[in-house]
Amino acid sequence: MSAPYTLTASILSANFSILQAEVDTVAQCDALQIDVMDGHFVPNLSFGAPVIRQLQTNLPLDVHLMVKNPEERIEEFLALGAQTITFHYEVLDFPDTIFALVAAIRDGGANAGIALNPKTKIENILPLLPAIDSVTVMTVEPGFGGQSFMQDQLDKVRTIRREYRDLSIQVDGGVSLQTLPECIAAGANNFVMGSALFSAQNREEYISQCRTVYA
Ligand code: DX5
Repeated sequence: MSAPYTLTASILSANFSILQAEVDTVAQCDALQIDVMDGHFVPNLSFGAPVIRQLQTNLPLDVHLMVKNPEERIEEFLALGAQTITFHYEVLDFPDTIFALVAAIRDGGANAGIALNPKTKIENILPLLPAIDSVTVMTVEPGFGGQSFMQDQLDKVRTIRREYRDLSIQVDGGVSLQTLPECIAAGANNFVMGSALFSAQNREEYISQCRTVYA
């Protein structure tokens, strides 16, 4: 597998009143996940580009658009230099609108990712994956941090990894030091951690413990 192991800190579980300081404490991660929620695609609101624009970080931004109209958000996050912009399969009118979204993201210099909700079967999406740079298998229902890991979603990871040896597969939701080994065994290479990381006594220590699991 050529997709590198990536530990991605989700700021959804950070203390927003001291967000810059919180982001500084996870600087040892490989990327920062920005969970953008519109209150329509998911029953929660989070933050948008104006907030993220205020942050100083050297970490690549992994923008997870949990929104009904991702095409409306792409430009502003490209302008922030997002490394990856991920939209949800469930918002596509037709599978072929995936190509327009991917083109818009890539034309702006970012990687294009697609996310799959737990209820979404992967049969329809498998043939489309060669058109995408990464796939996010949601291991919780999107909308909130701190939920329990959904083990059954790892079957999707195993199926995708069997079909696509080098595709980047991200798991997002309930990932922790405890669930990391089974995510790796299933074939995931990118691990989003929010509540497990931000609730850790010593975040730097927690990050290095995670790294030893896949070193
Ligand atoms: C759900 C969010 C969360 C977040 C990670 O919509 O996408 O999955 O990034 O949160 P934890 O690690 O607390 O599940």
